[in-house]
Amino acid sequence: MSLLSTQNLSKEYVLRLIKQASELQKKDFSEKPLKDKLVATLFYEASTRTRASFEIAAKRLGAEVVNLDPSIASVQKGETLEDTARTLADLGTDLVVIRHPSSGAAYKLNEALKNTKVQVINAGDGMNEHPSQALLDLLSIMETTSSIEGKKIAIIGDSLHSRVARSNIYLLQKFGAQINLVGPPGLVARDFEALGVKVFYDLNTGIKNANYLIVLRLQKERQAAGLIPSLEEYHKFFGISYQSIENAGLNLKEIKLLHPGPVNRGIEIDSDLVDNDSVSLVHRQVYNGLYVRMSILMDLLGNNLNKI
Ligand code: CP
Repeated sequence: MSLLSTQNLSKEYVLRLIKQASELQKKDFSEKPLKDKLVATLFYEASTRTRASFEIAAKRLGAEVVNLDPSIASVQKGETLEDTARTLADLGTDLVVIRHPSSGAAYKLNEALKNTKVQVINAGDGMNEHPSQALLDLLSIMETTSSIEGKKIAIIGDSLHSRVARSNIYLLQKFGAQINLVGPPGLVARDFEALGVKVFYDLNTGIKNANYLIVLRLQKERQAAGLIPSLEEYHKFFGISYQSIENAGLNLKEIKLLHPGPVNRGIEIDSDLVDNDSVSLVHRQVYNGLYVRMSILMDLLGNNLNKI
């Protein structure tokens, strides 16, 4: 089994992964359950958190890790994704973690590897999905509440181009969350309502009564593409700050903020809010990312907690 999306995951399976991730937080890893496994990371796009945490997770569990850098790999000589995949399979790889700018690339890789033992984790494919991010977001939210059922979660920013938004919409709705997408019309399409979310073009109304705010990174190239007038104007109307939280009538003691990173401090969210751990889960998300990714690797590579 590969992990390509959150759409097809059952609630029971997700809960098992999350529970295992929480248990892994308490382990010392003196035994190495993945010591005979080979994990390859294949990142065609920049990453700090996802790549580092998958690598640390695999190594902590005893796997060997090879990081293939497409900027100096044979992809530069015209090698196709399929041929890169077959090469990794020929080298005995058990699992590939892929990030790629094209939506669907992880599926293409998985298809190319379908007759091999190699499993695929989608670490972000274009505008499509980023399932491990949504799973770590879910764990971070679950740590702060006894139930997600009925909780209001506002996703603020560039949902249109966001794989994090899509994976979170699919996953959080399975647990009964009510999701609002908030942002300017150029970055949040009404079409999203077909997924069962509500769309708001006004921050105050979109985040009113929210329990959680998931703030998305604003890619600066959106301004060049004409989707927002300017970063300053975006910050004025959709930036999350102490003031915007107060303006919406939210109580800082009753809400939590999430952001997948990397953060554009002072654009989509004020810098001091990011580091205020009484309201921000941003640092906890990074911490949880390691254990969620360990849990995913444990599951896909056919091991379980009893072996630690
Ligand atoms: N959240 C996330 O995917 O971060 P990176 O791009 O640093 O991996």
